[in-house]
Order: sequence, then structure tokens, then C-alpha cells
Amino acid sequence: MSEMGLDYYKIKKNVLKARKLVIKATNNAGSGHPGGSFSMAEILGCLFYKYLRFDPKNPQWENRDRLVLSKGHAAPGLFSNMAVAGYFPESELDTLRQFGSKLQGHPDLKCPGVEFCGGSLGTGLSYSVGIALAGKIDSKDYHVFTVIGDGESDEGQVWEASMTAAKYKLDNLTAFLDRNFIQQDSYTEKVMPLDEKLEGDDLSEMWKDASRWKTGDKWRSFGWNVIEIDGHRVEQIDAAIKKAHATKGVPTMIISRTIKGKSVEHMEDNPAWHGKAPDTDVVPIINLELDSQFMIAPSIIAGDMTNLENEVKRCVEGRADYIHLDVMDGQFVPNKTFDHTKIKELRPFTVIPFDSHLMINEPEKHVRDYIDAGSDIVTVHAEVTNESSFGEIHDLLKQNHTGIGLAINPDTELPMWTYKFLSNLDQLIVMSVVPGKSGQKYIEDTHQKMARLKPILNEHNFSGYIEADGGVNLENIGSIFADGARAFVGGGAIIGQQDVRAAIRDFREETLKSRRRILIDKANELGGADLVNKWIGLHVVGEKQEQIKKIAQEAGYI
Ligand code: DX5
Ligand code: ZN
Repeated sequence: MSEMGLDYYKIKKNVLKARKLVIKATNNAGSGHPGGSFSMAEILGCLFYKYLRFDPKNPQWENRDRLVLSKGHAAPGLFSNMAVAGYFPESELDTLRQFGSKLQGHPDLKCPGVEFCGGSLGTGLSYSVGIALAGKIDSKDYHVFTVIGDGESDEGQVWEASMTAAKYKLDNLTAFLDRNFIQQDSYTEKVMPLDEKLEGDDLSEMWKDASRWKTGDKWRSFGWNVIEIDGHRVEQIDAAIKKAHATKGVPTMIISRTIKGKSVEHMEDNPAWHGKAPDTDVVPIINLELDSQFMIAPSIIAGDMTNLENEVKRCVEGRADYIHLDVMDGQFVPNKTFDHTKIKELRPFTVIPFDSHLMINEPEKHVRDYIDAGSDIVTVHAEVTNESSFGEIHDLLKQNHTGIGLAINPDTELPMWTYKFLSNLDQLIVMSVVPGKSGQKYIEDTHQKMARLKPILNEHNFSGYIEADGGVNLENIGSIFADGARAFVGGGAIIGQQDVRAAIRDFREETLKSRRRILIDKANELGGADLVNKWIGLHVVGEKQEQIKKIAQEAGYI
């Protein structure tokens, strides 16, 4: 299992599908819990699409792994993943919370595949201890995964279960604490603090300071193996589950820092969205927002080529989404950079996904090496592949759970032979400089090219990320996002800067502005000033509202 690729894109794509289903289902029901469904979305994604052993055709299969959703109100999140995973048709989500449906407001055993009737909070961990202990006694090798909320950690029963799991050395039990800092009525730290006492009003700022998080100490003192992660980062969840599996003799608690309502700005960090459904008129805007998540990928060749280890560290400290590795062979492009041996050396420094961009001839001869070196996505160029060689590469990457990427040079139009691969492609790199080196100027024609690509990609059901590569900077990133790019490589403009973290933050901010504009455009298109005002009004946490209002005013919508 540990040698298996990350399956980053497969997980991401399914998490997106599941989030959309949560919106659809809760809207349809007129009630439900999107906030807590979204905070645990990536955790469930990693479990359902990579780690959990289950058979949707045989939900009671004896040796299945058990997933216990203790925070049962997040049922829409569980059900939507069960649908995507094949337990029942996605359309069944339309019956959420209806009388007689197996998809009730809280998980119920009437729904095959559901392990536990959540809803009465604080009890799921005790139940998990029971089935984990039973597994030990019966010498079964199934694993129990349990998701608990931070709000329900107010219950004494959670801590009784914690002691019991340690007493019985339940290393077949892995729990996730969905640490989103919000419970039904308010912020957890106001209701019953789990962390160091936080003083002042702007609690959300303090939560970002990891040094103040003390919940892990509590679990450690109860004898658990504790791992602390960012609960929205697939690669961190993945690494934590691997560590949990490798830890013998004690149960594992993965404290996952998450954001309630994650991915929909107006729901994020807002207690109001604990248990409330979105209105019908904003659903299309929310779906567009979900489709518009983006990633920033620094290109380390823009840094010190004699110390790439340090460049990787700068990316880690800078909170890069993934690290772009430009491999040049001195043939496909005049320059030479590094090959798979370097990537293998860099791999132990971080779990952040490696995005290997192969600017090399005859890539089909080398892709295997790049998989083995630890690439999470491998991109090859259309100029040096054809239907047959790309087919081979495609299959190899898929079998190895590695993302599949294709790149086209500024002068290359997407060849027709690629069309049949588009629906399976994870990434399309649209080069906006002639490949060969960093620090070049963005080729303006790329905007038109992106417009030409759009209908082709739609027609062939492309559901991956378009990655913009070459000359991306703070001035043009907004318009490149508007063109449809969702991953952004930054060489000179990120790694070339002294403060990588600030550069990445600025990249994100500019992209976010562009996204907000697109969403406001959509609101205006669908419902004029009324809907624009409604959309603005939903954004009540922090500075968002003022900024979005400004965008709407500048556009002349209000
Ligand atoms: C070009 C590479 C790019 C490039 C990025 O051949 O594929 O990744 O170096 O660097 P900037 O952002 O400086 O163009
Ligand atoms: Zn590149």
C-alpha cells in the first residue's frame, strides 16, 4: 500500500463531485448541514477513494473497513460520497430528509453501507472502540476509521472512549478530529475551549497560529499516537493515514485543522452554515465557485539550481499547493536542468505533490522513472507524443495512481488525436512562453488560445485542471484565471522573490479577486442587482463583504 501513488487528482475530482451533491441535496431538502460536510470533505475523499476497503455491492462484507461518522449531522457529506463511491445512484440524494427515504438527516442503519446511527453526539468513538476491539478478538484485519467533531468533544464519553482505546491498544482504530473550531451555536473556544485560552475578539486570526493548538496534548496524554495536519490537504491526510497504519500498539488520532464550509467563501468559518441549506437562486453561483478552486505551483528552476533542496523547503514554508519540477533534456529544449534522480533526492523533503513537467524527447521511455521517483503528476508534451505513445503513458500513469498531464507549446494547437484522452486527463499545461527557461514574458496570444480551447475541452468532457505555465505574475494571473486556468506555475514571480510565502499569498489574493468578479458576473447575469446584493449580503465574515461590494460597484452592477 505504501508504494501506491497519491491519486491526488482522482481524490480531488471526487471530492468536488461530492461537494456539489451536498449543495444539491441540502438545497432540495431545504435543510441540512453543509458546513460540517465540507470541513471533512477531503478526509472522506481520501478514505473513500483510496484507503477504505469496501464493496458497495456487498455493504455487509465481513472484512470491510468500518467508517464511523460520529458527527452524524454531517450526513450529506457521508451520503454524497457513498453515492460517488457507488452505493446508490447520485439521484437518490434528491430524497435527502424526505419521509421514507433511507437518506435521513442523520445516518441511519436503514441505509446499507452506513455503519453507525450518528446524531446523538459524543457516542461514535465508543462504538468504534467496540468494533475495533471485536476485530482484535476475532483476529480480523479490518480497520476502523472514525470522524469526530470538535464540538462533540465537549462530551465526557469521548474521553472515556479515548482511555478505553488506549487501554486495549487498538491500533486498528484511526480517528480524525474535524477541528473546524465551530459548533452549532458558536465557536468551540467560546463554548468549551479545547486549546490554550484565546483572548480577544478576533478568534479566527488566533486560530491560524498553530503554536496555540493544544488539543493534541490532550490526546497524547490519553496515550494516543497523535498526528496534526491541515485537513484540507490530500497529501497530508494521505501521509497521516500511512503513519497511522504503521503505528503499532496504540490508536491514532489525526487532528485535522479544517474550515467549516470550506470551498464556498460565504460559508467558510461562519457558524450560520452549520445547519442551513443554500437558497435555490444562489446554487448555480455556488457550483461555479466549487468549479473554480485553484492551485499555486512554484517552479523551483527559477531558484538556486545548486541547492534545489532549499528551494523545495521554501515552497513548503510558502504553503505551495504543489511543486512544479521542470525537467529539460537539452534536446526537446536547448537547456538541461535535472532528471528523475534529482526528483528522487528531493522527495523525502516534503509530501507536497510533485508536478513533473517533462520537456524531454521520447517521454514514453522515461515516464516509469518519474513515477518511481515519486512524481504525483507527470506531464509530457504533445509535440513529442502521438496517439500510441501517449496511450501507453496514459495507461502507465493510471495504473500507478499518478496524475496524467499533457502540455502544448505556444505554437501548438491541441492535436486531434488527444481528444479521446481529454476526459481522462488530469492536467493540461498551456505553455505561455517558449519552453526552455524561466523569467520570460507571458505571450499575450495565449489568452486567445485559451478561448479557442474552451469549447474543445467542454465538448470532450475535460474535467482536469488547466495549468498556466510561463510568465505568470501578479498583473496577469487574474485574467489567466478568467480564461479558465486553475493551476498556476510561478517561477520568477514566486521562487525568484525573497519571500516565497508572501509571493504565494499575493498570487492567491489576485486569483481570488478574479474569482469573486466571475461569481458576481454570474449573479448579475442570473438575477441582476437583486441577486448581486443577495450574494454580497451572504458574505458576513471578515473583510470579504466590503471587497466583493467594491468589485460589484466597479462593474456597475449596483
Ligand atoms: C518553462 C518552464 C516554466 C517556467 C516558469 O520552460 O516550463 O515552468 O520556468 O517560470 P516563469 O514563471 O519565470 O516563467
Ligand atoms: Zn513548466
